[in-house]
Amino acid sequence: MKKHNFNAGPSILPREVIENTAQAILDFNGSGLSLMEISHRAKDFQPVVDEAVALFKELLNIPEGYSVLFLGGGASLEFCMVPFNFLEKKAAYLNTGVWAKKAMKEAKAFGEVIEVASSAESTYTYIPKDYTVPADADYFHITTNNTIYGTELKEDLDVNIPVVADMSSDIFSRPIDVSKYICIYGGAQKNLAPSGVTFVIVKNDALGKVSRNIPTMLNYQTHVDGGSMFNTPPVVPIYAALQTLRWIKAEGGVKEMERRAIEKADMLYAEIDRNKMFVGTAAKEDRSRMNICFVMAPEYKELEADFLKFATERGMVGIKGHRSVGGFRASCYNAMPKESVQALIDCMQEFEKLH
Ligand SMILES: Cc1ncc(COP(=O)(O)O)c(C=O)c1O
Repeated sequence: MKKHNFNAGPSILPREVIENTAQAILDFNGSGLSLMEISHRAKDFQPVVDEAVALFKELLNIPEGYSVLFLGGGASLEFCMVPFNFLEKKAAYLNTGVWAKKAMKEAKAFGEVIEVASSAESTYTYIPKDYTVPADADYFHITTNNTIYGTELKEDLDVNIPVVADMSSDIFSRPIDVSKYICIYGGAQKNLAPSGVTFVIVKNDALGKVSRNIPTMLNYQTHVDGGSMFNTPPVVPIYAALQTLRWIKAEGGVKEMERRAIEKADMLYAEIDRNKMFVGTAAKEDRSRMNICFVMAPEYKELEADFLKFATERGMVGIKGHRSVGGFRASCYNAMPKESVQALIDCMQEFEKLH
């Protein structure tokens, strides 16, 4: 049976990315060696990193003066590296969910942290809008897509201080104005690669401004200077990321990714709004295109497990909501074909006919 992979992350990747990476694991560039058994300093690997960086810059239209890094540690390590490198006295955070909260927690070890607004009181079903960012904060931290709750900030904010963004789950799903940020980071395991590599886009002249001593590995400057090769980088995930970047370019770039994301999200939200058995959980204006969250309507609440079983029997994978919110979550990342979204919609319609 065909599987429709709605996993939230690690998640679906384009088939050719998996095939090309599998091939390189068997034989890298006809060298007779596996990608897993070559040195990251091998002459054939440097072009992989160089092309991945170049494609990052091209696809996201990154201006001069920024570096693209591929690191280990996941987005969770960035929660700590960001304040280590940018927080001198005070930082402002927008609390839009568990990941934002975890980022705030790390920052508190480095200075004053201002929570400018929070939607915790409504289980993060919306993105706060009326707030003031303190002008004397070193940076303002946002999470553009809240993977667990299905809310998304789909525009680049105009803020009077430097902005840092966790874009783990929506990078490459829309064009972004990188010049509005000093740092954009994320775990790659949604729209880019398997887990194991973290991407960081950092503005070079925003570095070196804090007075503290930064441990070598946690200092962005180390990795800018070393071209992501200060130590052994995650070779296999970087290779896979390169395949995804090539795929995005060949498919028409981030503008096309955005068009597809809107098309898929509109299809599924239309069904959620039409079908009497389901209700969307996120505020309509903040609905995520990447993670589409919904629950059973109150009068059908007891059928939640039945629908999960029904959908699973028809090939749907990973639609159970995050354990902290329940219900369902269909993650529709770039590699998710429209046909899979349609298959889920068909399931919802068939289920409705049975009840
Ligand atoms: C928005 C967001 N930020 C951060 C993380 C944590 O990423 P990692 O597991 O790479 O540390 C996740 C993981 O799902 C996420 O969705």
